[in-house]
Amino acid sequence: MAQSITQKILAAHLVTGDLVPGSEIGLRIDQTLTQDATGTMAYLQFEAMGVPRVKTDLSVSYVDHNTLQMGFRNPDDHRYLRTVAARHGVVFSPPGLGICHQLHLENFAKPGATLIGSDSHTPTAGGVGSLAMGAGGLSVALAMAGEAYVIPCPKVVRVVLTGALTGFASAKDIILHLLGELTVKGGVGRVFEYAGPGAATLSVPERAVITNMGAELGATTSIFPSDDRTREFLHAMGRPDDFAELLPDEGASYDEEVVIDLSKLEPLAAAPHMPDKRVSVREIAGLKVDQVCIGSCTNSSYLDLKTAALMLKGKKVATDTDTFISPGSKQVMKMLAREGLVEALLDSGARVLECTCGPCIGMGGSPVSGGVSARTYNRNFEGRSGTKDAKVYLVSPQTAAMAALRGEFTDPATWGDAPQKPELPAEAPSIRDMFIFPPEDGSQVAVMRGPNIVALEDFDPLPDSITAKILLKVEDNITTDHILPAGAEITALRSNIPAISNHVFGRVDEEFVARIRAEGQGIIVGGENYGQGSSREHAALGPRHLGVKAVVVKSLARIHRANLVNFGILPLFFVNAEDYDKLALGEELTIPATEVTPTGIVEAVTASGTRIPLTNDLSPAELDIVRAGGLLNFVKNKRG
Ligand code: F3S
Repeated sequence: MAQSITQKILAAHLVTGDLVPGSEIGLRIDQTLTQDATGTMAYLQFEAMGVPRVKTDLSVSYVDHNTLQMGFRNPDDHRYLRTVAARHGVVFSPPGLGICHQLHLENFAKPGATLIGSDSHTPTAGGVGSLAMGAGGLSVALAMAGEAYVIPCPKVVRVVLTGALTGFASAKDIILHLLGELTVKGGVGRVFEYAGPGAATLSVPERAVITNMGAELGATTSIFPSDDRTREFLHAMGRPDDFAELLPDEGASYDEEVVIDLSKLEPLAAAPHMPDKRVSVREIAGLKVDQVCIGSCTNSSYLDLKTAALMLKGKKVATDTDTFISPGSKQVMKMLAREGLVEALLDSGARVLECTCGPCIGMGGSPVSGGVSARTYNRNFEGRSGTKDAKVYLVSPQTAAMAALRGEFTDPATWGDAPQKPELPAEAPSIRDMFIFPPEDGSQVAVMRGPNIVALEDFDPLPDSITAKILLKVEDNITTDHILPAGAEITALRSNIPAISNHVFGRVDEEFVARIRAEGQGIIVGGENYGQGSSREHAALGPRHLGVKAVVVKSLARIHRANLVNFGILPLFFVNAEDYDKLALGEELTIPATEVTPTGIVEAVTASGTRIPLTNDLSPAELDIVRAGGLLNFVKNKRG
């Protein structure tokens, strides 16, 4: 049967399941990547599995997020990441070398390979034809241990690009256009596979802008064919042998199709505070811009920064527009430097930062209060910039450079000629020797942990019967922020479960941690939609560390439910929602855990004899995972 590129890669990596959209499939993973903010926990989880060396073809640990924080925790994290990588066969990318996705594209991504990364913009590698997906840290740890990555089989959307970009329109405008059409939910459960004559006009770095920001569509991933443009790119990156042609078969069938005529696109922006709030730059021309940031994993390639640098060259940025440039990698920096463009950027008055995520996560470079920031980044959620009342517009490097020079958004029609699209040099300078490659045998490498890096404890299996007090009773719509708030002080403890656990439910009930520490175990009772919000694993890990055995609620948010299962907390629902009122804080409840069956009903009994029927929505495999004490134990048991 004629196959799309996506189907070819899925079929070649299928370990379990059938390629039917929506059904569960397990995929063999060739490559993994982590970044420091999520990586420490992923490696702690990998260590807990007791696997001596990663089983993937390639795993890379990047340090690009938290590079400028004060105090010992950051450098301790970096040292842990460096040594744990050497011990277990992982390539280490030291702080300052670049942003994970840009570096991975330049140095490691391969056509036809599967890649998962503990960062949502991992799909960037789809620019060279990798099937690259963002995943939780635990999934990445399991993939490094050789386990399949389990996902619902995606639908495939064919995005046909016709025509060619003109004037100031850029790759960023293609994805901003698509976001405006489909919204931030439009890609859920889908892979966007690009095709058509317009695709052939785009270089790999331009393609990577689109696949990077496909994450904002909520897509599983996005992918371009591997063709002559890919060959050119891999040649320039000094790895021609990594090229393999990867095209869809003639007559391949797709679940959906979108057509975009590139010649009709104009410069666009995503207005505050959502990446799908598409406006044309023309419409916002004249709006004062207080800050411009050019860089991030979306737009920090040599081509992006050269475009901006040529526009800034010989000119000065507006005095009241703070302008930041963060190159995606040292390779980009070196290429700009050898063409005199770093000097051009410096002379323009822009601030050239190190090659990291930087202002994208508020690591320096927050906008002024109430200010307007024009960023080439991929997210503009309220407060993400570090300034709560700032208004962030997502734009292309061209639009950002114009705003930097004029101090306001500028109608491109008033600018004059559009700059010529730069080309990649035939050979880019290599930075390969700046990665730290692991020794053949890492078994003698000592893993260095500072006081903030604490090995994951062994969790007990689920007891046959749970008899524990209800130590917390909460209302409807409890979020993961209620369970474990974010914020610099708390997230700095992400590699230290005992310490971060002191903050569990701290903003809901200050006494909870003391109560459960005194009891050693407990049960949480909640209302509807318990655990909504982020995918934060720590919101399950923290309670688990403290001894929470079960949560008994009216309903559960999807991702938190998965995290409860993964970390061995039994999630149960009231059969009769009114029974919520019959349970009181401090009361003892007995749950006959051995009698729990998938979707079956068990009767829990309070100390005073009240019987409460409870059910669950667990699959047989999920129940086995909970019984084992979580996914790590389950995998360890399976491997014997
Ligand atoms: Fe870094 Fe921002 Fe990308 S935090 S990985 S540059 S989305």
